[in-house]
Amino acid sequence: MRGIRVAIVGATGLVGQKILQVLQERQLPVVSLVPLATEGLGRNVVWDGHSVAVEALSTMDWNRVDVAFFAASGEVSAQHAPVASGYGVTVVDKSSYFRMNPEIPLIVPEVNADAIRDSHLIASPNCSTIQMVVALDPIRRHYGIRRILVATYQAVSGTGRDAMTVLENQTRNHRHPKPVAAVYPEPIGFNVLPYCDQFGDLDYTGEEWKLTRETQKIFGSPIPVTATAVRVPVFIGHSEAVYVETESPLGSIDEIRALLRRSPGIRVVDDPTRGLVPTPLQAQDQDEVLVGRIRRDPFDPQGLHLFVVGDNLRKGAATNAVQIIETLSGRFS
Ligand SMILES: NC(=O)c1ccc[n+]([C@@H]2O[C@H](COP(=O)([O-])OP(=O)(O)OC[C@H]3O[C@@H](n4cnc5c(N)ncnc54)[C@H](OP(=O)(O)O)[C@@H]3O)[C@@H](O)[C@H]2O)c1
Repeated sequence: MRGIRVAIVGATGLVGQKILQVLQERQLPVVSLVPLATEGLGRNVVWDGHSVAVEALSTMDWNRVDVAFFAASGEVSAQHAPVASGYGVTVVDKSSYFRMNPEIPLIVPEVNADAIRDSHLIASPNCSTIQMVVALDPIRRHYGIRRILVATYQAVSGTGRDAMTVLENQTRNHRHPKPVAAVYPEPIGFNVLPYCDQFGDLDYTGEEWKLTRETQKIFGSPIPVTATAVRVPVFIGHSEAVYVETESPLGSIDEIRALLRRSPGIRVVDDPTRGLVPTPLQAQDQDEVLVGRIRRDPFDPQGLHLFVVGDNLRKGAATNAVQIIETLSGRFS
């Protein structure tokens, strides 16, 4: 890959900051970086040991970059991402705005990198979708999947940096929380909220429908996916209890573990004899999706249970976005 010129929209946010880190860790040949965020606040971000001034999106000249990561809001992406891609910039959008647009590829490189084709605007899925499809794709390819049931346990960082502040405050000051702007309708400290988004069709939340529709688009198949998305007082790392019914009979648990071990982006953490299970603290700062608690269903020979954990800011966001650009290295050679 020749040197690439990069912009990050939302460079001051949780995902934007993580993209900066992942670009450096994975040694992408970035020759210039333009950080963008709300204008007029006189801020800087650190890139390659140097302080770089945050610039305004409204005056951005898209001729200055080859690649733009959008990690702000759906409204910002709706307004500015098509402008950037119109200049020939390869845009990877972290917002949900374009994900279900049939013209826009929705990409998890381990699963469907081929779907990018020559698109210059590429959507990266929701964090909870990404880790689930990485874990289930080998099962789908080997046994086929008839249906998926999933319950999530999602970290507050999935909501953005303000939610981290809220949980920090409610944890430190358990008895007398300091007044900070509400992010959730109810306290998240020492609590569990059985919704991650607004309620919608059939009383499922937006997050739950994202798990359904994004999974179907990525797998290219109308597999029924029924989700219950839950917010828990964890800072980083989403967990998911997943149940799948397969189309063909399952192999032994050892065969399934071996299948997952040789599949990209997965680390099997599953040894009941030693109490080895995946947890959000283990997944934090890891790019791999951790999979454990792998069990046959006691009542259905084609039923399989798994516990899937991933760092929502890494594979759920920044790493997936950076990997998308890595798969396009030919475009920048
Ligand atoms: N957090 C996750 O785990 C995760 C996972 C997958 C996808 N996403 C998606 O990634 C995006 C960013 O999420 P986040 O968690 O990083 O949120 P965040 O921590 O709240 O950061 C939001 C960023 O967007 C910038 N921004 C907001 N409005 C803007 C505007 N009008 N013009 C320019 N910049 C603007 C903010 O800049 P200021 O500093 O100027 O406010 C900040 O840099 C969202 O679309 C989210 O849905 C997040």
